[in-house]
Amino acid sequence: MNIFLVYGGKSAEHDVSILSAYSILKEIYYNYYTVTPVYITREGKWLKGNEITDPSQVNSSQELILEDIGEGLHFSDIPKENTIVFPVLHGPNGEDGTVQGLLEMLEIPYVGAGVLASATGMDKIISKILFKEAGLPIVPYFQVKVIDWHVNQEMVISEAESTLSYPMFVKPSNMGSSVGISEAKDRNELVEAIAKAFEYDRRVLIEQGVQAREIEVAVLGNEDINTSVPGELVKKQQFYDYESKYISNEVVPQIPAKLSEEITKTLREYAARAFMAIDGNGLTRVDFFLTADEEIYINEVNTFPGFTNYSMYPRLWEKTGLAYGDLIEEMIQLGLR
Ligand code: DAL
Ligand code: MG
Repeated sequence: MNIFLVYGGKSAEHDVSILSAYSILKEIYYNYYTVTPVYITREGKWLKGNEITDPSQVNSSQELILEDIGEGLHFSDIPKENTIVFPVLHGPNGEDGTVQGLLEMLEIPYVGAGVLASATGMDKIISKILFKEAGLPIVPYFQVKVIDWHVNQEMVISEAESTLSYPMFVKPSNMGSSVGISEAKDRNELVEAIAKAFEYDRRVLIEQGVQAREIEVAVLGNEDINTSVPGELVKKQQFYDYESKYISNEVVPQIPAKLSEEITKTLREYAARAFMAIDGNGLTRVDFFLTADEEIYINEVNTFPGFTNYSMYPRLWEKTGLAYGDLIEEMIQLGLR
């Protein structure tokens, strides 16, 4: 069977995607598969590399950057029979339904969420609307469109200050890996944070900051939904930004998280409901806040969460009893079903 493993991408999460792809390539069961790496450059060019039949053919994640040696991929080169595409893409232009839509058009099976779950899961405003509809608790927020911001900044600030309290979090609606997100502790920071978020999207949300633990649950399945034990991101610093996630590694996962049985059960149930709310398929990581007085809020879902060696999603499954290689195999099988 052929796997076309697609990674890189026109996204701020390009580098994370390469690291995820590298970790996955090391763990695929090569006795069943031949893997063709497909690297999407930052500019959006699709390049095809040489077939991989053994993990030792890739020795470092750097070797996956095919800019000099890859040849352009023609979609008609992808055989329709006996093939699955494995999109290892994070963020817009890959985790958001765009690539999934292309694969639907090409009638090629693929790993992970479909068009709807990818698009809704990527969009923080739309997913909050769906979570609310599904009866899941979310933190208070409101959305700002770029036009409103340009027309009347003062009105936006006064709405934020009358409905929420500092600290607030400002986020582009359609982004991942904390890119463009800032914490605002006062009005000046709020103005700056909103301007920064609008560099990434034309819809921004302003969210109530909560003092909370960050707990994550992995979901795996199609109609039959399985959830992992919850894990906690134990942080040296309060806000888990891009730098601490991938560069300085200042986050230590605690798996399973130290939680009561009741909270664990609720989190796992909410994770499954969130997966259903977006019409998930294959996999998703569901991220929660848990306050000191045991209020749970669902923060967001990631339909293709990080898969690096440090990433929560594969580690959550390992601690739930599913080894990395078996997890990859299960994801492929779910994509074929
Ligand atoms: N968006 C990154 C990859 C994550 O959530 O793990
Ligand atoms: Mg995310």
